[in-house]
Amino acid sequence: MQVEQLLSMQKQKIKRRVIRLSDSYPIKKSGAAKQNIFIREIPICSGGVGAGLWEAGEMMSRWIYRNSDAIKANFTGCLELGSGVGLTGIVMSTFIPTVMTDYKQALLQNLRYNIWSNSDCTDKDDLFNTPAEFTYFKSHAELIKQNAQIAYIDWFDLNQLNPPEEDFERAQLLPFNQSLNLINIISNKFNLIIGSELNYCVETVDALVNTLEKYLNKNGVFWEIISLFRGVGPKLFMTKLKNNGFEVEAREAEEYMYNGIESCQRKRNETYMMWTIYKKGTANVMTFGNGPLVDWENIEYTLAAE
Ligand SMILES: C[S@@+](CC[C@H](N)C(=O)[O-])C[C@H]1O[C@@H](n2cnc3c(N)ncnc32)[C@H](O)[C@@H]1O
Repeated sequence: MQVEQLLSMQKQKIKRRVIRLSDSYPIKKSGAAKQNIFIREIPICSGGVGAGLWEAGEMMSRWIYRNSDAIKANFTGCLELGSGVGLTGIVMSTFIPTVMTDYKQALLQNLRYNIWSNSDCTDKDDLFNTPAEFTYFKSHAELIKQNAQIAYIDWFDLNQLNPPEEDFERAQLLPFNQSLNLINIISNKFNLIIGSELNYCVETVDALVNTLEKYLNKNGVFWEIISLFRGVGPKLFMTKLKNNGFEVEAREAEEYMYNGIESCQRKRNETYMMWTIYKKGTANVMTFGNGPLVDWENIEYTLAAE
């Protein structure tokens, strides 16, 4: 789509959202959230598909929040692929060290901005409904500051350390006085890799398989959440992983993960699968989702009807 078309559709705005996490959903407008995450979304023509938050990202964040004790007991670090605006990685970083990644300069700058928004407490007290919410924010902010890092990963070019330069207008998204500060993880392996909505097109399937093979420890696990409305990409990806010696498990997203989320995907009533992927023979794997296994090789993968 051309930039002019996006402009005419008013998709050029910077948008700010507060994502509220709690023990149950939906949270009433006046009700207290346990954790508030500030997210800035950027224009689509700067950030592409990662410019805005996807419903699956919010759903995965809810699950991470609810299962944080088990996550802390099982893992000492996490890599997120295709972080987009960074909600899921930021929530994970309140529990364990987390490296968020993406492949566009604008997205990386926006990730730095969103980490800063959630880790800097200056003049934020009047943003909260109650003093208790601000106290929660401050305790999380310190953890996010310590644990959240950013790295560049392009699934198609795994040896590159830095994003290509983009034009001035697209790359003015950093917080005042801050630099991008990317870390180098090119030789690292991770026991936990996560991602939401990564297999949204068939063209990236092989590159994503290679990315996982490179970064996942031999005893590690990969969790992904994706809608069943993304065509054949997810099934192709999972089949390739199975052929490469991975165990592939699918579970349906849990009811609370959907409740009260407002998005175009919810208007279409999309259904999500939670995937757990690990090398055959790995013991004591923490699964993504607790429900019964779904026979993923025999379910229907469609495209969303507009
Ligand atoms: C559909 S978006 C999902 C974003 C985010 N996970 C969420 O749920 O809101 C897919 C993400 O993958 C990233 N991505 C796409 N192609 C990529 C590539 N070749 N290398 C690295 N990241 C890529 C996009 O920039 C985007 O952030």
